[in-house]
Amino acid sequence: MTKLLITGASGLLGANLVLESAQSHEVTALYLKHPVRLGGIETAALDLNDYEEVLEFFSDVSPDWVIHCAAETNVDRCEQDHDHAHRINHFMARSVSRAAFSAGAELLHISTDAVFDGESEANHENQTPQPINVYGESKLEGERAVSEEHPGALIVRTNFYGWNAQDKSSLAEFFLQNLENGESCRGFIDVKVKTLLVNDLCKILLKMIESDLAGIFHVVAGNCMSKYEFGVTLAREFGLAGDLIEAVAVDEIGLSAKRPKNLCLSTTKLEQVLQIGLPTIEEGLRRLKTLREMGYPDRLKSMIGGD
Ligand SMILES: NC(=O)c1ccc[n+]([C@@H]2O[C@H](COP(=O)([O-])OP(=O)(O)OC[C@H]3O[C@@H](n4cnc5c(N)ncnc54)[C@H](OP(=O)(O)O)[C@@H]3O)[C@@H](O)[C@H]2O)c1
Repeated sequence: MTKLLITGASGLLGANLVLESAQSHEVTALYLKHPVRLGGIETAALDLNDYEEVLEFFSDVSPDWVIHCAAETNVDRCEQDHDHAHRINHFMARSVSRAAFSAGAELLHISTDAVFDGESEANHENQTPQPINVYGESKLEGERAVSEEHPGALIVRTNFYGWNAQDKSSLAEFFLQNLENGESCRGFIDVKVKTLLVNDLCKILLKMIESDLAGIFHVVAGNCMSKYEFGVTLAREFGLAGDLIEAVAVDEIGLSAKRPKNLCLSTTKLEQVLQIGLPTIEEGLRRLKTLREMGYPDRLKSMIGGD
């Protein structure tokens, strides 16, 4: 059984990855402030900024793969605190990748579509990224640190939504909560993404690990929509009133960080290498609904509790 060590296991991607991989892999899950508990897997609290402790932990566990999901994902917080953004998204990625390399583990590092400026149409892996905010900058520096410290690392640039274990909202949960309460909300008409259901992302990541891939890959959905269109599509799939969503331009809102406008990344490389097609956003949203009907969000939330 492949041994996985998942950082950021209390986060949106990490928690879903723990649930999606626990049956088929030997999993160790790391968190910082939100304890993760799940029968059959090892969990621990570890501040990944402390290189010596990280190295000791990785060497003890001796995983086949480290999957580095931990990050600072609050784009506006990154803009307001440049040092914090770089400490978590850049220097911590360096420590984790150096420790994984020293412990003899393969590394899957999670990055973002926001390393691009959102001006280009194609956004292939071999294009030079030009981030326009501190979050994107710190994540790009993180990618570069990973490549230096662990030359064979697999780096995945992605964008996703889904059910959270913690009490916070992904893009889909934001629209659902508002629409189910009959409240109006706003969706950006000029920010386009190929956002992928996190459960589909997890399955693809596990396949990439199985296939021993290395280098940079874009892993996003099969089609592209504005965040406003995503909200309206979600409303249709869940039988809710999409007209409660107001279409607004992102620059009207007065956010701290600038947002890239077109993040519809090319996935040709992944599709050719793995010989797969990527799920559409509509397919992802249908599965999001099915997961709720199956009680999946409650299972996920029950993983995060006190000590
Ligand atoms: N969410 C998106 O739409 C999106 C889009 C593109 C790319 N990404 C990338 O995908 C990855 C996962 O994102 P996510 O949304 O799942 O993250 P998230 O929900 O914000 O969770 C962040 C995780 O990082 C952990 N963490 C933060 N600082 C830490 C530290 N010093 N030491 C150890 N752990 C620490 C947190 O632990 P505690 O909560 O326990 O403190 C939490 O588990 C990130 O690399 C992100 O940049 C996300």
